[in-house]
Amino acid sequence: MKSRLPTTFSAAVLAGLLSSPCISFAADDGGLATLRGAPIQESAPDTSDALKKAIESDPMERDFTLQPPLVSHAIDNYPVTKEFNKCLDCHSWENYRKEKATKISLTHFQDADGKELANVSARRYFCVQCHVPQVDAKPLIANTYQRPSVR
Ligand code: HEC
Ligand code: HEC
Repeated sequence: MKSRLPTTFSAAVLAGLLSSPCISFAADDGGLATLRGAPIQESAPDTSDALKKAIESDPMERDFTLQPPLVSHAIDNYPVTKEFNKCLDCHSWENYRKEKATKISLTHFQDADGKELANVSARRYFCVQCHVPQVDAKPLIANTYQRPSVR
């Protein structure tokens, strides 16, 4: 037979959890809240024109030297699968001029030991692992980070 916790023990644990200050499910206004008590926005994500415009504008500046640049266009219709990589139709060294796209960086042709390869390294094949569409999102937590002046 399975052993069970004594009822008094589980009741004590439950009481402790319920009175713990880190467990709170209601925001001040009575809505849903995170564990820290911040309200959870219940509205649908912003799919308005403003968001679309932010994605489809000039490439945003990078925030640190080796940041993968943000993608300055939507990527919904650009699949990357084991067999096919749509991004390379425009960004590869063969096609970037014709498509007026940024040429992928030399670093994308190196293996883990820094050896030069003839084609895009498997480490860099799944572009959206590192490159995401840009949007001018405000920091969730205030901070004093500054972009380095030399990039
Ligand atoms: C139909 C052509 C096309 C396809 C497909 C495409 N791009 Fe682009 N991409 C562009 C063009 C054009 C630009 C804009 C270059 C500019 O304005 O300087 C761009 C910009 C970018 C930039 C910003 C580069 C910079 O200079 O900061 C990144 C990163 C990027 N694309 C990544 C991707 C990824 C990842 C994919 C696949 C999911 C992809 N692109 C698919 C044409 C394309
Ligand atoms: C493991 C992360 C990673 C992956 C995967 C990756 N990139 Fe990058 N990419 C970076 C980083 C970091 C930089 C900036 C530093 C550099 O040039 O290496 C960059 C730079 C770029 C640039 C700008 C080059 C320039 O000269 O400004 C383009 C365009 C780009 N990547 C496209 C792609 C495409 C297309 C793919 C998929 C085939 C891809 N990247 C996959 C991390 C990645």
